[in-house]
Amino acid sequence: MKKNRSQLIGSIKQIEKSTRLLEPDGQNRQKLFNKINGFAEEFLTTLGSRPVFQNGKEEGTDLLNAPFTEHPDDLGEMLKNFSDNVLNTGLNPASPGHFGYIPGSGLYYSALGDYLAAVTNRYSGIYAASPGAVRMEAMVIQWFAKEIGYLESSSGDLTSGGSIANLSAVVAARDAFGFKAKEYSRVVVYLTAHTHHCVAKSIRIAGLSESVIRLVPVDADFKMQPESLIQMVKRDKSLGLIPWLIVASAGTTDTGSVDPLEDLFEIAEINKMWFHVDGAYGASFVLCKSGKKKLKGIENADTLTMDPHKGLFAPFGTGVILAKNGMDLHRPYQYEANYMQDEKTLASKSQISPAEMSPELTRHFRGMRIWMALKLAGVNAFRSALEEKMLLAQYFYNELQSIDRIETGPFPDLSIVIFRYIPQKGEPNKFNQSLLEKIIQDGTVFMSSTMINNNFMIRMAILSFRSHLEKVDQAITIIKSMIQRVEN
Ligand SMILES: Cc1ncc(COP(=O)(O)O)c(C=O)c1O
Repeated sequence: MKKNRSQLIGSIKQIEKSTRLLEPDGQNRQKLFNKINGFAEEFLTTLGSRPVFQNGKEEGTDLLNAPFTEHPDDLGEMLKNFSDNVLNTGLNPASPGHFGYIPGSGLYYSALGDYLAAVTNRYSGIYAASPGAVRMEAMVIQWFAKEIGYLESSSGDLTSGGSIANLSAVVAARDAFGFKAKEYSRVVVYLTAHTHHCVAKSIRIAGLSESVIRLVPVDADFKMQPESLIQMVKRDKSLGLIPWLIVASAGTTDTGSVDPLEDLFEIAEINKMWFHVDGAYGASFVLCKSGKKKLKGIENADTLTMDPHKGLFAPFGTGVILAKNGMDLHRPYQYEANYMQDEKTLASKSQISPAEMSPELTRHFRGMRIWMALKLAGVNAFRSALEEKMLLAQYFYNELQSIDRIETGPFPDLSIVIFRYIPQKGEPNKFNQSLLEKIIQDGTVFMSSTMINNNFMIRMAILSFRSHLEKVDQAITIIKSMIQRVEN
């Protein structure tokens, strides 16, 4: 039955009492904040002594024994639960000893930015809704673009990470060429066996799974061979195919190798192909002098992926896609919607919104975490940290040479070193797998592995802002002592 006005007011007032639980007052906020802050402080101050990797048998399943209820829980118990089941299981990426995969680290300054972004909940998707937030994101993007060496006609978007940035690049490249669906099976993509797997995923998601994917051979340093690429493009043209996209890596995940960007761009230009550079791991190194040299030619990329949650130490969920010609990124994502018509009257100025540069509409205000960190720490701290990582990788590589029977991959272009131990007897792959397991079990440092030409190689990736000389020395000591253990 329909309620009359006073019945409705009565019901609303009644239900408001429960709803108000979502609005803690100042005193309660302070109490919660102090407790959370105390917890965060304890985490940060004990970070150095916490294992980089640990997994109890239960792997966090106890979390499920405290299901959600209709009523508030005790924060102290919740934090204990979080600590036991989340922080004490798996990898600790915030640790200075994290040298596996591509380490992320999580800047404290950015966490403060995230806090403010969440509390104020500014809507950074559309200019009219928050001109300042959109300008801040644009400022961050323009700063990246300038460091890369792009002109003002470039533009970009802050994404959730490198995979989505690469997807955006593939979509931009597809729409720039304006292929018809019937042509998809003649379209050719050139990459190497070391290109990150998310690129192949992107091609499928972009509807191009029928396209031809060519694996261009790599040289002894795992870099794409321009000569082979030239031959492949030539041959494909003669077969009536459409050479379309070259995906170069500015730092492969496996070995950190930088493809010959200048040569590859030249080939792309001559053949009127799209030149995408996946710099998710390595592009941030343009910030430091040595990195800038290694990455010469990156500024020619039609589209470029960067990943501040790797090379700018930001918390996870921060990627960047840049386009040399900003309109290339706008083309796939422009839209019209009746319910968005107020946009045109709410603001007196106009600027392209993130929602017109990406598939997202409502999104995290990612710019704040980068703006906050660059402002509070200053850009120079980032330049120094990246230069330091390159030096540490070179130091690590040199130190490995003094260990008997160690075989290394190429001298590091950026900050990844691969190596393996050739045992006195027995199968090297098995030996190195056991060696890595022992290194990880020790808990002081964490490394990961890859297969290169059927060889099990251990990877040391140095990218956490918290990793310094002392930790790298510890890594060397642990490698030596674990070799002894596995040998005996
Ligand atoms: C070279 C490269 N490209 C792309 C990615 C994917 O990035 P994300 O994990 O941010 O999606 C990675 C991740 O390690 C990477 O190393």
